[in-house]
Amino acid sequence: MKRLCILGSTGSVGQNCLRVVRSLPGRFQVVALGAGKNVPLLAEQVAEFGPELVAMGEERFLDSLRQQLQALGYRQPVRLCAGEAGLVEAATLPDVDMVVSACHGVTALRATFEAVRAGKQVGLANKETLVVAGELVMQAAREHGAAIIPIDSEHSAVHQCLRAGERHEIRRLILTGSGGPFLKTPWKDFPAITPERALQHPIWKMGGRITIDSATLMNKGLEIIEAHWLFGLAPQQIEVLIHPESVIHSMVEFRDGAVVAQLGVADMRIPIQYALTYPERLATNGNLVGMDLAALRRLHFAKPDTKRFPCLELGRKALETGGLLPCVVNAADEVAVEAFLAREIGFMDIPKVIEAAMQDAPPGHPGSLAEVVECDRESRQRAKEWIKKIKQSRNVPGNQ
Ligand SMILES: NC(=O)c1ccc[n+]([C@@H]2O[C@H](COP(=O)([O-])OP(=O)(O)OC[C@H]3O[C@@H](n4cnc5c(N)ncnc54)[C@H](OP(=O)(O)O)[C@@H]3O)[C@@H](O)[C@H]2O)c1
Repeated sequence: MKRLCILGSTGSVGQNCLRVVRSLPGRFQVVALGAGKNVPLLAEQVAEFGPELVAMGEERFLDSLRQQLQALGYRQPVRLCAGEAGLVEAATLPDVDMVVSACHGVTALRATFEAVRAGKQVGLANKETLVVAGELVMQAAREHGAAIIPIDSEHSAVHQCLRAGERHEIRRLILTGSGGPFLKTPWKDFPAITPERALQHPIWKMGGRITIDSATLMNKGLEIIEAHWLFGLAPQQIEVLIHPESVIHSMVEFRDGAVVAQLGVADMRIPIQYALTYPERLATNGNLVGMDLAALRRLHFAKPDTKRFPCLELGRKALETGGLLPCVVNAADEVAVEAFLAREIGFMDIPKVIEAAMQDAPPGHPGSLAEVVECDRESRQRAKEWIKKIKQSRNVPGNQ
């Protein structure tokens, strides 16, 4: 029985993770859950899975959680805690074997880092962890013998393809992406893109930020950085290929010219189950369907259009430059996406905010998690100032 801590249990990945747990009775015990503010759903999860510890984003939600648990007639002892310290406590409980890191943004960065330092197995959905602190996290994983198993579908695909060869035999990785909802949208229509349209991802159902990042292709930029740290490859060895059907989740080309691809239906339960049960492959026990390749008939591929989707290259540039730049890009993107969703800026302003934040990036290399956190905080502040400037310029008559 593997004992789990799931950080972000009320989110898209977290709920899918619990579906996998539910579908494989007797394989897992949920020891700890972490979530932000969705008290009703978290209470249901606690009542169903009976964890010993639950961490919430803020202290003020805990009373409401207690009341909901009472209303559900739940009488088991459960320790409730809050904030970053609560997430760290959940992730480092001695009887946790594996931590699933699936919180929003950098909220669980410290908890994931401490889980690695405690030598836990980590199922990593949260790409921001490696984007902002890849070097520190991977170094800690080596020092403490912690295995990091990717959950992000592209990186899970690469992990699976690598079972066909060794890392030193890789020529290049090909990360695939659907291209998002605006793959065929003419450039002239980009200024009219609304949050509602950008939230309509053609293939995957995901949280808000990653859905918008998929529409701008920032998601692929962040995935290049994540792949660099996970698989120890140079930026030039990591390519992105648009593949609208999202049947191939990524590929590895080996030095002998052989290309190994991982295919499957677009359902996050597959990479989640793979990570939870690795190195075993278990029969899926839920209502997951297999693939009907004959019905697909054709698969399409194209190079990404970096003119219409500049965020992809901003991510690559951040990786090539290194230091604190990936942290700056991630923070600026998150703030810009929030502003876009709040209709404060337009879709095409997102890369502008990121690029402006990159000009102000502090020099140097992060030597500690504290430095990363400080850079994240300052970059958010600067991105907000740029957004303010954009809004002010729009209020000037004659400006768009
Ligand atoms: N969704 C996917 O299919 C997918 C695929 C690959 C990678 N990822 C990555 O996985 C991560 C999660 O994505 P998602 O789509 O699942 O996001 P999501 O649906 O927005 O869920 C985010 C989770 O984080 C929790 N959270 C927010 N603030 C928190 C805080 N202060 N303390 C503790 N928990 C907090 C939320 O709790 P409340 O809802 O209770 O506030 C929720 O459980 C992201 O890094 C994303 O890039 C997602």
